[in-house]
Amino acid sequence: MISRISVVGLGYVGLPLACAFAFRSFKVIGLDMDLEKIKLLKEGEAPIYEEGLQELLKKVLEKGSLKITSNYREMVEESDACFVCVGTPANLDGSVDLKHIKESIEIISECLRRIDKYFLLVIRSTIPPGTTSNIIKKIVEEKSGKKLGQYGLCFNPEFLREGKALHDIFNPGRIIIGAVDKKSGKTLLDIYKKFYGEPTPPVLITSPINAELIKYANNVFLATKISFINMISQLCQRLPNADVKVVAEGIGMDKRIGREFLNAGLGWGGSCLPKDVKAFLKFGEEMGLRLKLVESIIEINELQIENAVKLAEDLVGGLNGKRISILGLAFKPGTDDVRESRAIRLIEELLKYNVRIKVHDPKALQKAKKILGDRVSYCKTFEECLTDSDLCILVTEWPEYKKLKQETLKKYMRKPALLDCRRLYNPEEFKEIKFAAIVLGPIEMKNSFTYRSYSSFHNDSYITFQEKI
Ligand code: UGA
Repeated sequence: MISRISVVGLGYVGLPLACAFAFRSFKVIGLDMDLEKIKLLKEGEAPIYEEGLQELLKKVLEKGSLKITSNYREMVEESDACFVCVGTPANLDGSVDLKHIKESIEIISECLRRIDKYFLLVIRSTIPPGTTSNIIKKIVEEKSGKKLGQYGLCFNPEFLREGKALHDIFNPGRIIIGAVDKKSGKTLLDIYKKFYGEPTPPVLITSPINAELIKYANNVFLATKISFINMISQLCQRLPNADVKVVAEGIGMDKRIGREFLNAGLGWGGSCLPKDVKAFLKFGEEMGLRLKLVESIIEINELQIENAVKLAEDLVGGLNGKRISILGLAFKPGTDDVRESRAIRLIEELLKYNVRIKVHDPKALQKAKKILGDRVSYCKTFEECLTDSDLCILVTEWPEYKKLKQETLKKYMRKPALLDCRRLYNPEEFKEIKFAAIVLGPIEMKNSFTYRSYSSFHNDSYITFQEKI
């Protein structure tokens, strides 16, 4: 039974995994090539923000169950299974850059050549279908001189949500194991049995290519759900009194559809969905298949930015010379990650106008600064961000922004106007100021009534009527 684990790549995926294994009685050695990161980690400082991670890191370092290194040889010698979590960024054409993963597999395999023990390689990085069997397996055998059975290989996709990574590691909905051979699959399953105890989460053991496809199809489906509801939101935007939030509630009540990932807004961002959707499109192209649905969801995602800029213009009567406050820069609440953040995309669009922009985020200011530089002003508090502004745009739905009241906007802003891009606020509470929400149709009736709708079939014709209550 394997109890010595190593993790390569201590980023958003690898670091929480290393800490979780170390917490659950495994001996863990974590490796990264970024020496600055290594220094911070050795001092007990998590270089990224993830709920609960800082505390857990301190705990496992004190316990001595997590060791940090940048030395591959030490890592391979002191572990029997290695989880590879290095980045697989996008090339300019959207395809996946496998440089880092190939490099680390090469080095691990060279270290294995000198060691006589069974060693399991587990790929967690997202890679195009076919990579494990066609590329990684070949590198391992060539560089290590070993054959399957002397080493093991699995593709084991992660389904962690950023911000909730530790929660998702400890409570996974399922585990997908794409095993190159039976022994590899069983060895990894045993590791998870030891980690989770009874009952083990649902497990699907399959071929690497199926597991690789599952990872992509999963993220593309989630993006499709969001783009679908954003398409409905674009329709609602043109329909007086229509409200996509209610439509989402309604269709979400159908168990076959489900309510999750039906929050309309500025669209999907982050380090995963945009990259994976584009890589999948490219992969289809390489297979000689045009994935038209995937093309459309990308287009809808872009339209949401245009939509927000248009709403902003309408709300304040043109953007020229306006001062804008942006609340939220992280790609979603609960993280400091700004990769492919919709906030950054929106700011880049707004900066094409003659505007001055102030920004605030509870966690992501430092990371945003690296991208936006001195083109915007950074504020430590949201009050500072609102001061003397003409328009406040809520972009990331951090819970603390929920506390924002009409009075606060009136107190600090020049001419209070609020554009809610994530449907955080109740428009009823902002009646005295200019208010718009990206997913709410134009409000025509000031004192709107509540309607209960009935539908029934009668004489083969579909009759809908509304009763005022
Ligand atoms: C996503 C998947 O949800 C994870 O299952 C997966 O493991 C991960 O990618 C990955 O491949 O590593 P994550 O990038 O953390 O996780 O973010 P999500 O929570 O999926 O949100 C993605 C984007 O969609 C965010 O910009 C969010 O604001 C947006 N979103 C999400 C909506 O606009 N509406 C929704 O209803 C849900």
